[in-house]
Amino acid sequence: MNIAVIYGGKSGEHEVSLRSASSIIRNIPARAHRVIAIAIDKNGAWFLQEDAETERIRNDQAAVLAIVANPARRVSVIPGGGQSGAFECAGEKIAVDVAFPVLHGTYGEDGTIQGLFEMAEVPYVGGGVMASALAMDKEKTKLIWQAAGLPIVPFVAIKIADWQNDLLKEEMIARAERDLRWPLFVKPACAGSSVGAAKAANREELEKRVGEAFLWDDKIIVEPFIPAREIECSVTGNEAPVAYTPGEIIPSHEFYDYDAKYLDPEGAALKIPADIDEQTTKRVRQTAIQAYRALDLSGLSRVDFFIDRRNASLYLNEINTIPGFTSISMFPKMCEASGLPYADLVMKLLSLARARFDSRRNLRTNRG
Ligand SMILES: Nc1ncnc2c1ncn2[C@@H]1O[C@H](COP(=O)(O)OP(=O)(O)O)[C@@H](O)[C@H]1O
Ligand SMILES: [Mg+2]
Repeated sequence: MNIAVIYGGKSGEHEVSLRSASSIIRNIPARAHRVIAIAIDKNGAWFLQEDAETERIRNDQAAVLAIVANPARRVSVIPGGGQSGAFECAGEKIAVDVAFPVLHGTYGEDGTIQGLFEMAEVPYVGGGVMASALAMDKEKTKLIWQAAGLPIVPFVAIKIADWQNDLLKEEMIARAERDLRWPLFVKPACAGSSVGAAKAANREELEKRVGEAFLWDDKIIVEPFIPAREIECSVTGNEAPVAYTPGEIIPSHEFYDYDAKYLDPEGAALKIPADIDEQTTKRVRQTAIQAYRALDLSGLSRVDFFIDRRNASLYLNEINTIPGFTSISMFPKMCEASGLPYADLVMKLLSLARARFDSRRNLRTNRG
């Protein structure tokens, strides 16, 4: 197979993407497959990387992809080009059997690049356009889970235009105070990495936190603050998804904030399997599959849960359709704990991508 690994990108998670893609490239056997490394710089331009770069990554376990933004090697994507003609560089076509967007967050996980692959008619790893876009939006995800009867944390969603209107703002605050219990938790609806996420103990703090969250998105979510254990579960598959051994994130901070995720080396301990009883494990896995199916997802996702420390209630928190994928990331580690090694996982995702493409190829798009 010619596998286009696409990484970097305009998102805040650019650096994580470089590390995830390095691990993935290292685990694609060079004898059997050709990796086409396509890097997206922070401005959003696509560049074909030299084969020497993938060689360097393969030969050094600690190496991380570096982006060479050579204007002569810009990549373009051609609508309708298909596997032999969708990608082009310097006037030459690049054959791509399957694309693996190793891009977290905006422009990677949110349906936008998935739409580009659909137009180009190239198979790609992960969820489709609608599922990816929905999963990126915490409000829409919750509404769908709620309609499916799945356990979500209660919430109030607020749009910036309403917050800027004094009357509507009062109404929103009154609704949060009525429906949710203090302390509250505020976060942007469509961000990640815990940016803009914070606890608010009173009305004054709430207004401050909401203002800060609006720096990241024009829609925010207010929830009760749950003193929670954070349980995660990997899911892969298309029509018949499977869930793997759950793991637990044990942050050393009050919650799993940006610093605990990326800056503080002692910010969090990862525990796989999670120290939960058999019945809870079963419930987590079942709920993860239901949550995945409710959004019509395909490929892979990491489903994140809370277990309330006060009463052991289980809640779905959020879902990540292109989760961190370094060799030490939770997603591949939880698959490994169920007996699926990293390299086999990568191959499984590539074949799921091709299976989804093939099964949809015969759908009619017109009556002619
Ligand atoms: N309602 C809540 N109560 C307590 N902590 C929360 C709540 N919602 C989120 N958090 C904390 O904030 C972190 C980030 O929130 P999350 O919804 O996972 O967004 P992100 O997409 O940024 O990861 C969570 O891992 C958790 O530690
Ligand atoms: Mg999260």
